[in-house]
Amino acid sequence: MTNELKTTAFSGIKPSGSLHLGNYLGAIKQWTKMQDDYSCIFCVVDYHAITVKQDPKELQKNIIDIVKIYLASGIDPAKSIIFKQSDISAHTELAWILNCIARVADLDKMTQFKDKGGSNRESVSVGLYDYPVLMVADVLLYNTEVVPVGDDQVQHIELARTLAKRFNKQFGETFKIPKPILQKQGARIMGLDDPANKMSKSAATESNFIALQDNPKIAIKKIIRAVTDSDAIIRFDKIKKPAISNLLTIYSLLTNESIQTLEKKYQNKGYGDFKKGLASILETFLIDFQNKFNNISDHKVQEVLQKGKLNAKLIAEKTLQKVKIKIGTKSMNNV
Ligand code: AQP
Repeated sequence: MTNELKTTAFSGIKPSGSLHLGNYLGAIKQWTKMQDDYSCIFCVVDYHAITVKQDPKELQKNIIDIVKIYLASGIDPAKSIIFKQSDISAHTELAWILNCIARVADLDKMTQFKDKGGSNRESVSVGLYDYPVLMVADVLLYNTEVVPVGDDQVQHIELARTLAKRFNKQFGETFKIPKPILQKQGARIMGLDDPANKMSKSAATESNFIALQDNPKIAIKKIIRAVTDSDAIIRFDKIKKPAISNLLTIYSLLTNESIQTLEKKYQNKGYGDFKKGLASILETFLIDFQNKFNNISDHKVQEVLQKGKLNAKLIAEKTLQKVKIKIGTKSMNNV
């Protein structure tokens, strides 16, 4: 399945709620375009989801839905490995080993933990604090060279680079040094109700995001109500006009029309016309996406995950055994 002549790309999404346009435009869309040129491995990172409280039944459903979203978006299991993190125990084993070379100072720098832990730092789970190390293990197990992500994950890939280099220095060349790849446009889709912060599954209100499974009529309302900037001009300027710039980015990524083309198209029109245009594009996108999603059976998902597990395990186990020999918990003679 993986091709040694191609660069290996690895990425994943956690099944912690409804996936939104940010996840799709920032990450998944870029994955679908990489499948012919890279050896791609896409994971459902369920152990990351449980760093915050999850309802077990809902988690099950979210895992299945993510695989359906991957397939409906065009991730092809004949070209890419799709698997579930908890199916491969090498992830948590390598995470433990890496925990022993990661430093508290490395994790104290992680801004996502500061954001998510907030003032509640003392009562959030140890898993939430340590999750970047598990993410490093996810990436390093597959000899990953590139990690296509949204820009909120760049700091975690930096940690992967730091720990890979530190391990290689201490125990000899073992891991490839991965680097993030970001979309030129769309690496950070902002909240519809708050263009200063990224669109997020765990946002305080549902008006923050367009879920890929939103009823298209509700999605239209969310666009119409989205925050706008003070003047009524349709122009891209991330600093002075963050709200309309965010909507222009979404519009451009959904239609593949350039921002300049859209600025011209709406030159003499106001926010109302622009939002109506975007709402109609979004409605078409969601109806098409949801049709594809609804045509994928749970059985198909199980089949894809089963095949992915076998292929992923071959690579992950090989890396883990190499690591165990390097650190001295296993001998060359298998003891
Ligand atoms: N707003 C965004 N714009 C662009 N890319 C984004 N991603 C997430 N939000 C945006 C990218 O989606 C991939 C999967 O992310 P994840 O679900 O594993 O975790 P996350 O980044 O923590 O996403 P959320 O929505 O903010 O989830 P919660 O609220 O549950 O923590 C990653 O590549 C990410 O960069």
